[in-house]
Amino acid sequence: MFKTLNTLLLACLLVAPAASAVQMKDYHKEIMTNDNGKVECAACHGDAKRKTIPAASQCESCHGSSDDMAMQTARPEDAGHDVEPNPHDSLHYGTDLPCTYCHQEHKESTVYCNQCHEFEYPDMKR
Ligand code: HEC
Ligand code: HEC
Ligand code: HEC
Ligand code: HEC
Repeated sequence: MFKTLNTLLLACLLVAPAASAVQMKDYHKEIMTNDNGKVECAACHGDAKRKTIPAASQCESCHGSSDDMAMQTARPEDAGHDVEPNPHDSLHYGTDLPCTYCHQEHKESTVYCNQCHEFEYPDMKR
């Protein structure tokens, strides 16, 4: 009896998160909602049935290459606006860090560098 009850409870717990809509960033939700009012998961996850962390190439198809991103937050004379130190082109990793190390979609974004540093990026949309 108790075993069945536990199994039932577990089943509910497992089903519940899938049934509720995933949290999205406003800046993406707006542009990725289709006519039926549903978010186009495929914009980032492709056609994968089981959703995992999207590859940087998915982000880059809209935002440009990691070099383009680095330029956008580089020195003003390179056409960007100055962000110090440049998160998109760092001392240790250059432009190689996957976007999703810092920009999360379904939860609050974090800056990977700050596992070790205390850099402030007040303009970053969390
Ligand atoms: C279908 C195109 C598309 C894809 C795919 C996409 N984005 Fe975006 N993203 C946009 C648009 C459009 C905006 C809003 C305009 C802007 O600020 O660039 C935006 C906004 C953002 C912003 C906020 C920019 C700001 O103004 O601070 C971040 C950060 C971002 N995207 C990161 C990502 C990451 C990381 C991925 C991959 C997981 C991704 N995007 C995938 C189109 C896309
Ligand atoms: C090491 C952390 C980190 C990584 C990796 C990273 N970003 Fe960012 N990103 C930031 C921070 C911090 C900002 C806020 C910069 C600022 O203050 O304007 C930012 C800003 C942005 C913006 C807003 C543009 C702007 O001018 O501020 C976009 C769009 C964006 N990132 C997309 C990307 C994409 C696409 C990738 C992968 C190619 C990526 N980021 C990788 C930390 C990161
Ligand atoms: C703008 C890009 C984007 C869109 C659109 C998007 N996701 Fe994601 N998804 C991500 C990123 C980035 C991650 C990595 C974890 C995170 O950032 O929250 C992720 C991770 C996931 C995961 C794995 C959770 C984990 O932590 O391993 C699931 C499940 C998921 N997404 C479901 C969805 C569903 C369902 C939709 C459509 C309603 C959707 N996603 C739309 C970017 C996106
Ligand atoms: C695993 C820990 C770790 C991570 C993650 C990390 N750093 Fe560092 N970083 C260090 C260490 C250790 C030093 C050398 C000691 C020092 O000067 O702080 C350093 C030095 C630096 C320096 C020169 C000294 C300074 O503090 O100004 C810069 C700039 C820097 N890191 C930027 C970054 C950026 C940008 C990121 C994220 C893209 C990052 N780091 C991620 C550990 C890390």
